Amino acid sequence: MLNAVERKIEQFIAELNDENSSNLYKQIPHGKRLRAKLILLVSNSAKFAIETSAVVEMIHAASLLHDDVIDNAFIRRNKPSINAIYGDKSAIMLGDILYSKGFYELNNINVEVSKVISNAVVQLSLGEQNDVIMAKEFNSNRDNYIKMIYQKTASLIEASAEAGAILANEDREIYKTYGKNIGIAFQMIDDILDITSSADTLGKPAMHDFKEGKTTLPYIYLYEKLDDSDKFELISFHAKDLNNDELNWLLDKFKEHNIIEFCKNEAKELVVEASKLMLKEGNEALLKIAKDMIDRDF
Ligand code: FPP
Ligand code: MG
Repeated sequence: MLNAVERKIEQFIAELNDENSSNLYKQIPHGKRLRAKLILLVSNSAKFAIETSAVVEMIHAASLLHDDVIDNAFIRRNKPSINAIYGDKSAIMLGDILYSKGFYELNNINVEVSKVISNAVVQLSLGEQNDVIMAKEFNSNRDNYIKMIYQKTASLIEASAEAGAILANEDREIYKTYGKNIGIAFQMIDDILDITSSADTLGKPAMHDFKEGKTTLPYIYLYEKLDDSDKFELISFHAKDLNNDELNWLLDKFKEHNIIEFCKNEAKELVVEASKLMLKEGNEALLKIAKDMIDRDF
C-alpha cells in the first residue's frame, strides 16, 4: 500500500505539469513514511486512505523543506538538502508547491479529515515558530519544550491517526491519543539521538541541536541536576560551536547524571500508554509502530 501512496504523490506532482517541480521532488529522499503508515493502518486502507496519506506526506515534505532553510541544515537523510543544492528560494518555493497542491487535493477527501489535517498544519507552523523563538535563549522550562514538540511534530502524527479513524469510522479519541503519545515520544527520541548517534547513522550532523540554540529535553534535565557553577558552564555553551573538550564535558555530565536513560524512560512511558490503547484494540501493527519508536537509531 505504501507503494500506492508513492504513485499517488507522483501523480499529484505530475498534474502540476511543471518539469522543474518534478525534477526537484525526485531529489528528495523518502523518509520512513510514518504518517502514511499510520493512516493506512488505522483506516485499514479505507476509501481515500491513499489520497489522505499522499497529502499528509506532501505536507510533511513541505515542512521539512522549510525547516531546513530555517535551521540552516545542509544534510537530510544522508544527502544534501534541497536548500544546500539549489538555495533557500528553491527550497521554500518547492515547499509551497507541495503544500498548496496537497491542500487542493485535501478538498476532494472529506470535510472532517480536512479540518483535522489543516488544524495540524496550523499547529506545526506555530510549533516551528516557537522552536525558533525558544532557541534564542537557554530554556530550562520542560513544559514549554513539551508544548513546542507537541505542536511541531506530534500534531501531524496525531492528525494522521485521527484522520485514519475518521476514514474507517473508528473511535477518533483513541487513535488521536495514540498518535499524540507516539508523536511526542518520536521527537523526544529524535532529540536524544542528536546526542547519542553518529552523523553517519543520523543522516545529519550530530550534537547539532544545542549549537542551533535548541535546549532539548536532555539539556533541560541536565540543567536541573547540575550545581550552580556547572549550570553557569552549561548556559555558556548554549548556541555555540563547541570544541572537543567542551563537547566531552557535556557528554561526561550526561553520563554522570544518567540523563539519556532518564529521557528514554520518559519517551518509553508515552509509548507504553499508546501501546495499552492498541492492546485493547487488538491492533498488532500499530503496537509494533509504537515499539519501533523507541528502538530506532535514526
Ligand atoms: C523538524 O524539526 C520540523 C518539523 C517537524 C516541522 C516544521 C514545520 C514548519 C517549517 C512549518 C511548515 C509549514 C507549512 C505550511 C508546510 P527539527 O528541526 O527538530 O527536526 P530535524 O532535525 O529533522 O530537522
Ligand atoms: Mg530541522
